Amino acid sequence: MKLAARASRIVPSPTLSITATAKSMKAQGIDVIDFASGEPDFDTPEPVKAAAEAAIRAGFTKYTASSGIDELRSAIADKLKAELGLAYPKSQILVSCGAKHTLYNLAQALLEAGDEVIIPAPFWVSYRDQVLLNDATPVLLETKEADGYAISRAMLESCVTPRTKAIIVNSPGNPTGATYDRPTLEVIADFALRRDLIIISDEIYEKILYDGVTHISIATLGPEVAARTVIVNGVSKAYAMTGWRIGYAAGPKDLLTAMADIQSQSTSNPTSISQKAAVAALRMGETFPQQMVTEFDRRRRLMVERLNKMPGVSCRMPTGAFYAFPNVSGLLTRRHPAGPIDSPAALAAYLLKEAQVAVVPGEPFGSTHHIRLSYATGMEAIARGLERMEAALKKLT
Ligand SMILES: Cc1ncc(COP(=O)(O)O)c(C=O)c1O
Repeated sequence: MKLAARASRIVPSPTLSITATAKSMKAQGIDVIDFASGEPDFDTPEPVKAAAEAAIRAGFTKYTASSGIDELRSAIADKLKAELGLAYPKSQILVSCGAKHTLYNLAQALLEAGDEVIIPAPFWVSYRDQVLLNDATPVLLETKEADGYAISRAMLESCVTPRTKAIIVNSPGNPTGATYDRPTLEVIADFALRRDLIIISDEIYEKILYDGVTHISIATLGPEVAARTVIVNGVSKAYAMTGWRIGYAAGPKDLLTAMADIQSQSTSNPTSISQKAAVAALRMGETFPQQMVTEFDRRRRLMVERLNKMPGVSCRMPTGAFYAFPNVSGLLTRRHPAGPIDSPAALAAYLLKEAQVAVVPGEPFGSTHHIRLSYATGMEAIARGLERMEAALKKLT
């Protein structure tokens, strides 16, 4: 069969496929420790579940408005006004089936062949493939671990061409856990204004911050910046609701209208029940995410400290999200009996086989020096997994 060329431009999401492998090993009775999956291990909060149950009982199980129910769009508008001081009318808010779907609608509405999108690397795996799926070209802006993955004006200028259409900003970021400070966001905003670019601000980890760092949305840097920024967010990470599939966008009217039209011809509305659940989440206040962050913070310290004690491994302390992104360059000249550890992918395969520890190699994030470990898993599993990892690394020659 001759498939569309776009299908061969992309790979299946590597994070999802490693998580699936770990799950199937577990199902076979193998005691795998999963540091690969990108979701909080916390249960969805009770008030959210109760709202979903009530929705089912009330028969709220039919099609809804394609762009999302008014109640949810109002809750999102209220949140954006209260937390960012930005007022978006309902027509500029679109609810979709997860932030990944939001980003896909955005790519569909914005991009065409020849367009370029600047993606700071390391980057979340789907940015690149979604750009490719929409016939456009990802342009990677290489950032440096030693600089805390910061972005400078010179770096931005070196990536721009007359075809550049948009830039992705992901702070707090996956996989690095890095956050951009205000001066960095100001440089990006000024660059986008001068080059007439759309800013795609993925703020899905906004609530997961440590060490007193506060979230700054680039859209808050002035009305002219907000006018060209699409805020992408959702309830997956902040409310432990990854399976419910609710994400949203707020941004310029023309773009949001096009995204809504595309959604109306593809998925239609996100699940009615999940929408009611998301209203409850957004109206819950800060207690739940704060409790999660307090726990993630303990795990973050334990994981980073342990990783830094392993020979050949060095790990920055992340200031956001729930990932450690250790540099493993020091291991990439080693061997195990079945072959060399010459890449993060080889190391990840070795750790899964030898230690039954699932990690994601850096390559799909745009790094040949790192692996990603999620600490959104229990303290006990972290301690046991890192012990096994250390023992496996000691066997390398
Ligand atoms: C940076 C980033 N953006 C977006 C998403 C997608 O989130 P959702 O579950 O809402 O689709 C993820 C999920 O891993 C992510 O890490």
